[in-house]
Amino acid sequence: MKKWEIAVIPGDGIGKEVVPAALDVLQAVADVHGGIAFSFIEFSWSCDYYVEHGQMMPDDGLSTLRNFDAIFLGAVGNPKLVPDHISLWGLLLKIRREFEQVINIRPAKYFRGLSSPLAEPRDFDFIVVRENSEGEYSEVGGRIHRGDDEIAIQNAVFTRKGTERAMRYAFELARKRKGHVTSATKSNGIFHTMPFWDEVFADVKRDYPDVATASYHIDALAAFFVTRPHTFDVVVASNLFGDILTDLGGAIMGSIGIAPAANINVNGNYPSMFEPVHGSAPDIYGKGIANPIGQIWTAKLMLDHFGEEELGALLLRVVEDVTADGVKTPDLGGTAATKEVAAEICRRLREHA
Ligand code: NAD
Ligand code: IPM
Ligand code: MN
Repeated sequence: MKKWEIAVIPGDGIGKEVVPAALDVLQAVADVHGGIAFSFIEFSWSCDYYVEHGQMMPDDGLSTLRNFDAIFLGAVGNPKLVPDHISLWGLLLKIRREFEQVINIRPAKYFRGLSSPLAEPRDFDFIVVRENSEGEYSEVGGRIHRGDDEIAIQNAVFTRKGTERAMRYAFELARKRKGHVTSATKSNGIFHTMPFWDEVFADVKRDYPDVATASYHIDALAAFFVTRPHTFDVVVASNLFGDILTDLGGAIMGSIGIAPAANINVNGNYPSMFEPVHGSAPDIYGKGIANPIGQIWTAKLMLDHFGEEELGALLLRVVEDVTADGVKTPDLGGTAATKEVAAEICRRLREHA
């Protein structure tokens, strides 16, 4: 029997509600299969932890995480307690960087049983490959002067290695899918980095003559996500553009509460981290109504990562069945609680045992 060792970080806000729900579902998946098991070790690293300890995780936090097969994270952020840039750079972004999780995979698809806000949603199914380690998320820059002359400078960092790596990942993924890659650019307005991005895209594309491509400015691309999402297969985007596009991907599915994500360490020298697209949603935390599907679909991405694609497919099918039968949280127009959705998914999974 294969036993996967998972480090669990519920984090803040609704992370503490949707993570336990998704762990119940993972346990049900293991019960169905019989050949796999999970060991979940939980860490309370969060903004509450910061208030007590003055840091988001202990000094040896990364070396503790390193030995796990994967990290399963809810969400980080409680701006009432800790400024966001401190909490995020102290935990989520720190893990992404230190563990070289350079690719962030974020699928979106027309989801059975959901009412998409699009007037005429067609069957869409795309994956955003988000560059996850550099770009606009950089520590280069600073604050100078004060008063009326105050200036904040933020330098975006695009390396050929990082840019090319994200693009090659997208092309390889497209080969296993519908054979199409779209590049999210902004080379009309961003003077240095985006013309560079286009150049690297043209270079990489030459190695994949069998893959069709398109390139759109990010503003137009955002509009196309609304007007014709069914025309996309794999979309490769910089860190910030990918961030924004994937909340939009969630929204056109019906709610950002269902959008999943996987932070992938491509070399396999550190664990990858599985964490949904949404945040800690302080506005609904504590009500028991957070949608657990983003976290549960994220668990499916973790199963895929472990090579358990069949189990992953079964899980997603069951989630769609439950949604189509109307067991939905309020963000999807339903009345079910977080726990009810998860319990129904577990019940149906066990029917497959
Ligand atoms: P958010 O994603 O937390 O919430 C945006 C809106 O979507 C809110 O109205 C929220 O109620 C709703 N929503 C989000 N997830 C939902 C779910 N599962 N079910 C139902 N509704 C859901 O974004 P925000 O408000 O910009 O950020 C809140 C905090 O979370 C901030 O501290 C932010 O920095 C942090 N954040 C963390 C992550 C992460 O850890 N991966 C991601 C995004 C934001
Ligand atoms: C995400 C989040 C993070 C990001 C924030 C919380 C730093 O929005 O994972 O999408 O921008 O990467
Ligand atoms: Mn985001």
